Amino acid sequence: MRISTDFLVIGSGLAGLVFAIKAAKHGKVLLINKSSIDTTTTSYAQGGIAAVTYLPDSHDKHIKDTLSAGRFLNDEAMVRTVIHEGAARVKELVKWGVRFDKKKSGHFDLSREGGHTENRVLHWKDRTGHEIQRVLVEEAKKNKNITVLENHFAIDIITQHHLGVKVTRQTKDITCYGAYIFNKETSQILTVLSKQTIMATGGAGNVYLNTTNPAVATGDGIALVYRAKGKIRDMEFVQFHPTALYNPKDHPAFLITEALRGFGAILVNKKAHPFMDKYDKRGSLAPRDIVARAIDNEMKISGANHVFLDCTHLDAHKLITHFPHIYAKCISVGIDFTKDKIPVVPAAHYICGGISIDVNGQTSINHLYAAGECACSGMHGANRLASNSLLEAVVIADRAAKHAVIDIERLKFNEEIPDWDAEGTVLNEEMVLITQSLFEVQSIMANYVGIVRSDLRLKRALDRLAIIFKETEELYEKSILTDKICELRNIINVAYLIIKFAKNRKQSIGLHYNTDYKNNQNPS
Ligand code: SIN
Repeated sequence: MRISTDFLVIGSGLAGLVFAIKAAKHGKVLLINKSSIDTTTTSYAQGGIAAVTYLPDSHDKHIKDTLSAGRFLNDEAMVRTVIHEGAARVKELVKWGVRFDKKKSGHFDLSREGGHTENRVLHWKDRTGHEIQRVLVEEAKKNKNITVLENHFAIDIITQHHLGVKVTRQTKDITCYGAYIFNKETSQILTVLSKQTIMATGGAGNVYLNTTNPAVATGDGIALVYRAKGKIRDMEFVQFHPTALYNPKDHPAFLITEALRGFGAILVNKKAHPFMDKYDKRGSLAPRDIVARAIDNEMKISGANHVFLDCTHLDAHKLITHFPHIYAKCISVGIDFTKDKIPVVPAAHYICGGISIDVNGQTSINHLYAAGECACSGMHGANRLASNSLLEAVVIADRAAKHAVIDIERLKFNEEIPDWDAEGTVLNEEMVLITQSLFEVQSIMANYVGIVRSDLRLKRALDRLAIIFKETEELYEKSILTDKICELRNIINVAYLIIKFAKNRKQSIGLHYNTDYKNNQNPS
């Protein structure tokens, strides 16, 4: 089956939805999600969206905090653009109907997270992402120019490679003509021809065993663009959130928002001693790379599986009012955070690297844009400042939409694109082969490419991954296509990129900490 659309949007989190809503004023939009429209990484965001709203905050302060958290590896011009345009985008979200908590005075109730020198995080209780997703889904669904296809999985971006042209990483003018899309319900593969395509597939946390990301976060966009020979950057910078609830039964790991530390909660070890002041003068509110590494170190010293987050000294009523979602979750596992300390452990949370984009969300491939977590604009540098990701997603999606609509009527579909060739795919392999390989990749990444790395660990990881890569490619060649084998391939691709980039960076900086280069850690 063939479909033609002006705009193809792959992913339906904040970035995909904002792009779709804006592009729909200029043409037909096809919005796909491999699961349901609201199963996205955005929905899981708790803390909120950082933006400059009132004095004494200022753009300069937010820029300084972002650059300092990113260890100055950020693209400063990008940081400036995103922060300057942030407040206008927040206003637009409010206009669409997104609620952010307010004080009695009518001003936004701004919270504070690690690395911020001001309270600047707008939030809706402790479920900000869920609120944003709800409103934007409603807005997209009532738009007649947007067609939503759920349970549709993007397998490959279509380029001149599919017309028989040899495409390498040196090829200039690689062009995107759309994508091959797998319908999970019928197993049919659609050829979607589009004039402009955007990758907004979200995170890649499932490259690791323990992650706060939903199961759908398998790095699909990054892997697709890499396979299409597009440019990827900064993949060594994987952010581990310091405080996921320690409960080995939870997949994904349940996030305990940093805003709780902004509210006064402190990290303590199993002897109930606060330990963060030993590591950084900002204590429990130091940037995430520092806090996650400190927790990792405390766990190694004590042999414990977790540390604790202590809020028992805080006002119980206010705690429950501000963090009802976390309170309910903790109660469900027998922890009353007004009386008990919360056991917490770091978990893979956000990939700062991804598909390389410019300030308009353009990738290195013509007519292909990217926004949100799968993209890398250089905003986050070596370590993302908390709550800057929703901000970046909304600003870049807006810019990408404004750019992609230019001359849309003049652009043509490439009708010569052939349909997907499924010949030779007969084997219906047992699921256990895929799940076992997935577990092996996640274990390799957790054990050798986590918070603390070394040259030897990275070499081991790459050697072991090479075996799984070969086995999986052989299986893929022979098998009837399923989303699960595609996801495994994507996870292996992303794992490979993280290891390769980590091996190439001969220093410790921000989220990339290699014990062989520990003296190079930049001061924060
Ligand atoms: C959190 O609420 O702690 C997560 C926010 C973020 O990752 O930016």
